[in-house]
Amino acid sequence: MTATEERPSTTVTHPLEPLSAEEIRRAAALLRDAGRIGPGSRFISLGLREPAKEAVLAHDADGTAVPREAAAVVLDRTDGRTYEATVSLSDSAVTRWEHIPGVQPQVTAEEFIACDEIVRNDPGVQEALRARGITEFDGVMADAWSAGHYGDEVEGRLVRALVWVKIGGPDDNGYAHPVENLVVYVDLLAGRVVKLEDHGVVPVPQQPGNYTTADVEPRTDLKPVSITQPEGVSFEVDGHEVRWQRWRFRVGFTAREGLVLHTVRYTDGGRERPVLHRASLSEMVVPYGDPAPTHRRKNAFDAGEYNIGTMANPLELGCDCLGEIRYFDAVLADPSGEPLTIPNAVCLHEEDHGLLWKHTDFRTEKAEVRRGRRLVVSFIATVGNYEYGFFWYLYQDGSIEFDVKLTGIMSTGAVPPGTRPTHGQLLNTDGLYAPIHQHVFNVRLDFDVDGTTNSVYEIDTVTDPEGPENPLGNGYRTVATRLDSELSARRRVSLDSARYWEVRSSEARNAVGEPTAYAIKPHGTVVPFVRPEASVMRRAGFMAHHLWVTPYAEDERHAAGDYPNQHPGGDGLPRWTAADRSVSDTDVVVWYTFGSHHVARLEDWPVMPVQHVGFLLQPVGFFDRSPALDVPPPRHC
Ligand code: CU
Repeated sequence: MTATEERPSTTVTHPLEPLSAEEIRRAAALLRDAGRIGPGSRFISLGLREPAKEAVLAHDADGTAVPREAAAVVLDRTDGRTYEATVSLSDSAVTRWEHIPGVQPQVTAEEFIACDEIVRNDPGVQEALRARGITEFDGVMADAWSAGHYGDEVEGRLVRALVWVKIGGPDDNGYAHPVENLVVYVDLLAGRVVKLEDHGVVPVPQQPGNYTTADVEPRTDLKPVSITQPEGVSFEVDGHEVRWQRWRFRVGFTAREGLVLHTVRYTDGGRERPVLHRASLSEMVVPYGDPAPTHRRKNAFDAGEYNIGTMANPLELGCDCLGEIRYFDAVLADPSGEPLTIPNAVCLHEEDHGLLWKHTDFRTEKAEVRRGRRLVVSFIATVGNYEYGFFWYLYQDGSIEFDVKLTGIMSTGAVPPGTRPTHGQLLNTDGLYAPIHQHVFNVRLDFDVDGTTNSVYEIDTVTDPEGPENPLGNGYRTVATRLDSELSARRRVSLDSARYWEVRSSEARNAVGEPTAYAIKPHGTVVPFVRPEASVMRRAGFMAHHLWVTPYAEDERHAAGDYPNQHPGGDGLPRWTAADRSVSDTDVVVWYTFGSHHVARLEDWPVMPVQHVGFLLQPVGFFDRSPALDVPPPRHC
């Protein structure tokens, strides 16, 4: 990723700077020159191989040089084999080329798009469509849902395509017209339909679900709101490093995770204090709760199965973000290894955030008030029918918030007109419906609270027993429990104990002698409702607990394992934490699971207004008093 200009590789200043377009070209060329890339080779991903944590910290401490490396996942379409590669850009050499047996890497955008044509042109599909009164196939949309793993699939690199049809021209919302009960297995390597299931004709709902101004007359009673920053912004950007207020961090972007925050630090009294080494979406899954044939296998791991970063929208000024915007391009690689730039993929800007703090001394009638501001770093991805906005917010009171904004179009189905779905919400009188589902996210938080040695504590609030110490029965207090090992650190939220977690420094102490800490405060959480033996529960084991803690390991990045596509399950967090490694007074990584429980509403149709879900990281004794006291009063006050 580069802001505007390409940097020559020789002037790279920081080891976490993303690969430039030129470095991506060089890495692909080195693999080609080494004879690793054949006519059937497709790059699933190619980007910076992030240096080990110690190397980054050493570089930041004393400028120690760090070799520049690229990492690639390559699929050979001729034999279906997957390879992982490491390329040293510093030494101009391929240093690792390894066949990873028995895995399916992510479905690429190229394959997703090809699926439309393959399905639409298949004679069996056309026959099934004719049985439903569809005789024109140009508008047929086949969304390449991941095949999952149920033990009964045909062999191959599979997707399980579900079909909708645009009946009102190319701009029609095809999701208003689901072809229920038609399930099409496509082998992406063979490029053909390998299995067709038709569970019976349900009339295709005909009512339109269009949403543009061509179909919806805009209201006329809105006056403009103008955001102006006549003296410019309060942040500085150097390469991919951002400084704002007391915060300093680096912006990263990967094909798999999208936006990544690196080395988040807070300058306090002239000292730079680390908070997070790396924060990223580690995985997500959307388990649908409808056991009907079309919907029972719907669950998408949008990071591990689709590389959600590759689906980032190019953001446009004044539309997605408002104000004085600084954009970063995402520089990824296309399947042939050529640089693929998503312009303006990441948006950086400041937002007014209303009241920061206030007190009126009612005796003197003097008021002190401060308005708050937040720094926003975000990207938005389109994954088939849905949009996910991933927003990191940094605040002046030392808090960090992660907010996922869910919008777009619900995945739909159809029931016979006059009936109601048992596992979803009817959306119109043609039988269109949206099944119940969840969106479950796991974020990997490599904390370094005042250094790399941390412990995680669970904070519960308990009611005191009755007795002489609690004569009026009003007593309650917090109890902190250290989570010592991986198995004991698999935790769930508890409303009954107002539970949250703290990541405490093992060394640093605050003014009252307590460990400095950051808390993880749940905002919105979900528990799984699929049965324990369900395939998706095995494959997305991270759903079982809201909190997981592991000791830092460079190769543990993805909550459901490196290759969840068509994987039988059990990989990632459940496997690693079964070792029950110690997680006290060590370099801990916290994996936090949260999500949106989506009971579809009529109001979510045809494009759902944004639903928010996320969490807050809040300083708890990290500062000796409010860090927001010195924010100046508003100028006009
Ligand atoms: Cu939803």
